[in-house]
Amino acid sequence: MVCVEDLKRRAAEAAVELVRPGMVIGLGHGSTARYALLRLAELVKAGTLWDIVGVPCSTQVEGEARRLGIPLTTLDEHPELDLTIDGADEVDPELNLIKGGGGALLREKIVAQASRREVIVVDEGKLSPALGTRCPVPVEVVPFGWRAQARYLEALGAQVALRAGPDGASAKTDQGNLILDCRFGPIAQPEALARRLEGRAGIVGHGLFLGLATDLIVAGRDGVRHVRLGSR
Ligand code: A5P
Repeated sequence: MVCVEDLKRRAAEAAVELVRPGMVIGLGHGSTARYALLRLAELVKAGTLWDIVGVPCSTQVEGEARRLGIPLTTLDEHPELDLTIDGADEVDPELNLIKGGGGALLREKIVAQASRREVIVVDEGKLSPALGTRCPVPVEVVPFGWRAQARYLEALGAQVALRAGPDGASAKTDQGNLILDCRFGPIAQPEALARRLEGRAGIVGHGLFLGLATDLIVAGRDGVRHVRLGSR
């Protein structure tokens, strides 16, 4: 029997096959993207992939990539990336995404927008007919006045929960901000919702990734499928 971890690994390893020597690679955050990191490290160590540099999407990924011996750079040194490999929490038929289950949504979106190709790797359980069906939308807010943002989000129709960290205290992002997980249910008009979120002071990022994925690699019981929308 194939388990979900196997599917995640297969999707991630299929994405690594797109990486060529000399590329600048965005290194996504999360348990699926981690398999890509491990595979990249293997190839670099074996000498079959060379001259790549990675831009990590979180301090956690940065630490892990360093330990694995993947050469790193920054977006300041390389403001344009060839390809990013990242996971997602939910994927709709147009390849719009909800991301941020791991809390790295802001850096992930910054890296995605700087990437010519944004390759999303998931197991088939992440596919959804409409965003919001499976997962809440994570919204990153500055700590100042966060309850006002929670009320705003409730007024938009969400059930809002302040994300807790492993120690029970509120989780902090790499920017020192808070995350409000917003359960909207199936979202009929994600673009309109994204505009409402982006127009509000105090909200610094949200997990709706609309029109950003260029490729989806999805692993299921019947094999690995690559859906390609083309590079930006
Ligand atoms: C990290 O902030 C997220 O966007 C992840 O990419 C997303 O939560 C998917 O994570 P998993 O691969 O662990 O399911």
